[in-house]
Amino acid sequence: MIVTVDGPSGVGKSSLTNRVATELNFKVLYSGLIYRKFAQIVRNTVGDIRLLDNNLIRDLTDEHRVDLLMAARGEIDRSELAQFAELASIISAIPEVRRRLLPIQRDCYIGIDFIAEGRDMGSIVFPNADLKIFIDCTLTTKISRRLKSISCDTNQINFNVNQHQINIAMKFVSRDLRDLHREIAPTKKPEGAVFILNENSFEKLVKKVVRLIKLKKLD
Ligand code: DC
Repeated sequence: MIVTVDGPSGVGKSSLTNRVATELNFKVLYSGLIYRKFAQIVRNTVGDIRLLDNNLIRDLTDEHRVDLLMAARGEIDRSELAQFAELASIISAIPEVRRRLLPIQRDCYIGIDFIAEGRDMGSIVFPNADLKIFIDCTLTTKISRRLKSISCDTNQINFNVNQHQINIAMKFVSRDLRDLHREIAPTKKPEGAVFILNENSFEKLVKKVVRLIKLKKLD
């Protein structure tokens, strides 16, 4: 069974996907990690992304196929890739990059139950998924969660955030806007997806998604 969970960054996709996968014994395909890994490879080999042409993209994706597969399966040190979110967002808007990373994502798990999380899982990578979910939350919630995750007291957001924290939050919002408005595979609710607004209890959300998957399995 293939379940897709798409949505912008910072809406809780990964936490939700990980919990649901653990409860149901599904594997997880982390498409964001494959883009982050490719961004790291580009930075370490090419340096300047302006030098990235189609031939180079082909060579790099062929040469690092195993690393990219491992990243998609989450079999890597994720903390190492945290700094590549921004570059991942920039290079993921290059059509040839998406074209080359597409088959790697499709080859990640064959014949087993998995949840694929990202931006275009239900719309492009797995259009025939058994269940598609699109998750979002309000901008206020997104920013306050982000600030919380970088150790800020969200009760005092208006008074105590420093410039560094504001810069991080703004970067995060601008990355989201780039992913939402790019020409190729923008973040969007796929046709037929269940829309979920993640504003309230995480436990309730997990239960809801587990129920949706179980119901689909009975179909
Ligand atoms: O999910 P994430 O924050 O790890 O993703 C990092 C970047 O990778 C994101 O800003 C855009 C890109 N991405 C994408 O273009 N398509 C996906 N399916 C997943 C991520």
